[in-house]
Amino acid sequence: MSVQEPSKLLIVDDLPDNLRALDALIRDERRLVFHAHSGEEALALLLEHEFALAILDVQMPGMDGFELAELMRGTERTRHIPIVFVSAAGRELNYAFKGYETGAVDFLYKPLDPDAVRGKVNVFVALDQQRRETQRQVEALERSRREQELLVQELNATQAELQRSLRMRDEFMSLVAHELRTPLNTLFLETQMRTLHLKRGNLQAFNAEQMGAMIKRDERQIKAMIRLIDDMLDVSRMKNGTLSVRPAQVELMGMLERVVADLSLQAAASGCAITLAPHVPVSGHWDEFRIEQVIVNLLTNALRYGGGCNVEVSVQVEGGCARIDVADQGKGISPEDIERIFQPFERGTRNGEPKGLGLGLYISRQLAMAHGGELTVRSTPGQGSTFSLLLPCNEVVSCAEATA
Ligand SMILES: Nc1ncnc2c1ncn2[C@@H]1O[C@H](COP(=O)(O)OP(=O)(O)O)[C@@H](O)[C@H]1O
Ligand SMILES: [Mg+2]
Repeated sequence: MSVQEPSKLLIVDDLPDNLRALDALIRDERRLVFHAHSGEEALALLLEHEFALAILDVQMPGMDGFELAELMRGTERTRHIPIVFVSAAGRELNYAFKGYETGAVDFLYKPLDPDAVRGKVNVFVALDQQRRETQRQVEALERSRREQELLVQELNATQAELQRSLRMRDEFMSLVAHELRTPLNTLFLETQMRTLHLKRGNLQAFNAEQMGAMIKRDERQIKAMIRLIDDMLDVSRMKNGTLSVRPAQVELMGMLERVVADLSLQAAASGCAITLAPHVPVSGHWDEFRIEQVIVNLLTNALRYGGGCNVEVSVQVEGGCARIDVADQGKGISPEDIERIFQPFERGTRNGEPKGLGLGLYISRQLAMAHGGELTVRSTPGQGSTFSLLLPCNEVVSCAEATA
């Protein structure tokens, strides 16, 4: 048995001499003995402490021992406490208290026989210690059952997460294969065409103008593959914290004009236009290459998922931060999707939509954060989406605080 708290004993008698005499008989170092001079005093102590045993004098002025026992029986907190009645009266005790059903009841007669008193008290104290030990064991069992339950829950969650990761890995592999295969196929077809021209002696197909166009086509396919591989490398650098940004003074206007011009051809091919709203010059200390990467991601998404509608880029300065908005008038994004699309490998749930790797927004948000900025989106399904890139214009401002 483990080390226990001392057992508490309550003795109730209106005569202080009796209390002292009884105390001397039952006290030892593993017990605490509490004295009450009346039933009322006893009740107050009973509500405050957890007693192993109450020894009640039957004859007391005011509330007598039986009345006190009745009250103890009627109270949830005290009904289990064993009671020993002490009386000078004789044998009628059994009869007088036969109504006391719950909890142990015993009797001592005056004059007290020291051995009988000690014997009875020892039995009740041993019972109490056993009861408390059992209770402790039950509590420990219950605790470990709850811990086990939590562990099982954690295990289930981990297993589900693992299965999800495995599914995503498989899907990811086939997506990467597909995304690489498309430009490779195009390149392969080009080489076959060129071989055919050579075989037929059709050297006209290789004049300066044709060669220029060929190289541009090849470049596009090669760039698409490089972008894909760079995205995957970025994600793994972000995951192990080795992605670094190299800030320098950047003027936004020039960079945005260039990016918009670069993507305008692609936009025109899908029947829409990208416009850059006029704005005041804004500059900041940023990694130009990375900011451009974010804007290109947002614009490519707007073209891809914007339903062929026009896209507008605008810039505002507020609270020491530059805010670049990329707004489309496409189908918008559902609230459930908004929660997920910034996670790696997560894409929208709409059917029939072109499928990417789901890395663009994750990378873009991480890049925004690496600059002390933010990437957020507002969208109303059916009415388009506006992605906002917030960047602090000087190093001390945090956009999270500026926009809070
Ligand atoms: N402008 C947009 N309009 C509607 N949905 C968008 C837009 N931009 C992104 N999304 C949704 O967010 C998802 C994740 O985008 P992203 O991380 O760039 O990955 P990917 O383009 O490879 O799917 C997309 O699959 C798409 O469902
Ligand atoms: Mg994308």
